[in-house]
Amino acid sequence: MRTRFVAGNWKMNKTGEETRVLVAEMLPELSAIKGADKAVCPPAPYLMSLANLLAGSGVGLGAQNMHWEASGAFTGEIAPKMVAEFCQYVILGHSERRAYFGETDEMVNKKVKAALAVGLTPIMCVGETLDENEAGQTAAVVSRQTKGGLAGLTPEEAVKIVVAYEPVWAIGTGRAATSQQAQDVHANVVRKSLADLFGKDAAEAIRIQYGGSVNAKNAAELFGMPDIDGALVGGASLKAPDFIAIVKAAAG
Ligand code: PGA
Repeated sequence: MRTRFVAGNWKMNKTGEETRVLVAEMLPELSAIKGADKAVCPPAPYLMSLANLLAGSGVGLGAQNMHWEASGAFTGEIAPKMVAEFCQYVILGHSERRAYFGETDEMVNKKVKAALAVGLTPIMCVGETLDENEAGQTAAVVSRQTKGGLAGLTPEEAVKIVVAYEPVWAIGTGRAATSQQAQDVHANVVRKSLADLFGKDAAEAIRIQYGGSVNAKNAAELFGMPDIDGALVGGASLKAPDFIAIVKAAAG
């Protein structure tokens, strides 16, 4: 069975001191929760100090992005090995990276491969925009992103990754997908695409998170769905009580 996994995407928020305060607030309760995997993904400058705070706590650490090249003249970028020095996870292909920084499925695919090569677990994000949703293109877009981002992986590699289905219209809007809407895409689009690529057994082993306005109130219902294996949480991950409640809901 798949262990549910909740990750907090802090995006470009908080000062260094605020990140340490937030972690200190969450850590005792979070590390006591068994039965679900959990991680926080702070801005890159804080990874080192938070890695020290989280060491041995059972709460993982993730970056929000990285480059695919190992090193070189890429001013402002962070290499996979630099991330792997501090983190277990890396969010890749978030819709904000796709929309504002021009990330394509091909770039996401290079990043996924580079992350696996250094032992990081990629959390690869997919999801349709409002326009695409209203035009009935959800399945086409999400399956293209899933297959494009994971092209060329072996089934053995694929089972190490996490996919996050995040409909863009649900991110930061307070308007989450219903549990049934999310379940449909998870089962009939994402997991089906995974089965097409890697076979049924591998597809059944891969965790698919839902993301987009997950909060302490709607989490349990989402996690009650058979193909929703956790959440990638933005806004609600910045508040200790809310994030703790979501992780507790995932632990069941
Ligand atoms: P949200 O963001 O929970 O604030 O909607 C989710 C995300 O972008 O990962």
